[in-house]
Amino acid sequence: MRKHIVAGNWKMNTTVPEGIELAKAVAAKSVETPESVGLIVAPPFTHLASVAEALKGSKVALSAQNCADHTKGAYTGEVAVDMLASAGCTYTILGHSERRQYYGETDQTLVEKVKLALAANLGVIFCVGENLEQREAGKHFEVVTDQIKNVLFQFSAEDMKNVVIAYEPVWAIGTGKTASAEQAQEIHACIRKVVADQFGAQVAEDMTILYGGSCKPSNAKELFACPDIDGGLIGGAALKADDFIAIAMSF
Ligand code: 13P
Repeated sequence: MRKHIVAGNWKMNTTVPEGIELAKAVAAKSVETPESVGLIVAPPFTHLASVAEALKGSKVALSAQNCADHTKGAYTGEVAVDMLASAGCTYTILGHSERRQYYGETDQTLVEKVKLALAANLGVIFCVGENLEQREAGKHFEVVTDQIKNVLFQFSAEDMKNVVIAYEPVWAIGTGKTASAEQAQEIHACIRKVVADQFGAQVAEDMTILYGGSCKPSNAKELFACPDIDGGLIGGAALKADDFIAIAMSF
């Protein structure tokens, strides 16, 4: 059975006390959300242990926004998968477009990161998506297919049980410009087909594929009604507990 998930990527926002407050509010309101909808929050590294504490006893799972491509050692400023797991994370986001764009994250690095995350029993929220230029050139299917092939095809069908794909068109992130439900659905269907061709129909059927990019309470219902959209990866609207929960109630 395919899981519905609404995940909040807090990006580089909130101080630790603000993050704890937000997490507590999300945890408290999470009881109103349908049981079938999984909730995840991804605060900055500095917040993880305290947010884990704030989420205790609730249905809300904890995710990191990134992880190191090494297990430990002399890698100043990096955070390893075991550290994330020991801080209470059960997921990590990987390959977000902001990491690809601003921090030079490559497919090769991502293969390492996915490998380490899965080995540490972390679920992976793997992000893909085209930029505006690629969309305007009609290359979006190709770009997204390549991003999946170059990284996820290095893994097994069994591994895919712990992978969620998030389609986030770069032109829709933080711009207020959402992909239309039709635009999102057609690329989600393409992603599911790419997964089916490589890993089999059952893996594709069970794969949770999230949409991200200016998803908010006012457009979530239409997006989530699409047959291949199984939830959202939410940026800005995840910083307000009421909006985040309203999105989760949009199924
Ligand atoms: P916004 O919801 O702020 O557009 O961000 C989406 C995103 O990048 C989530 O990872």
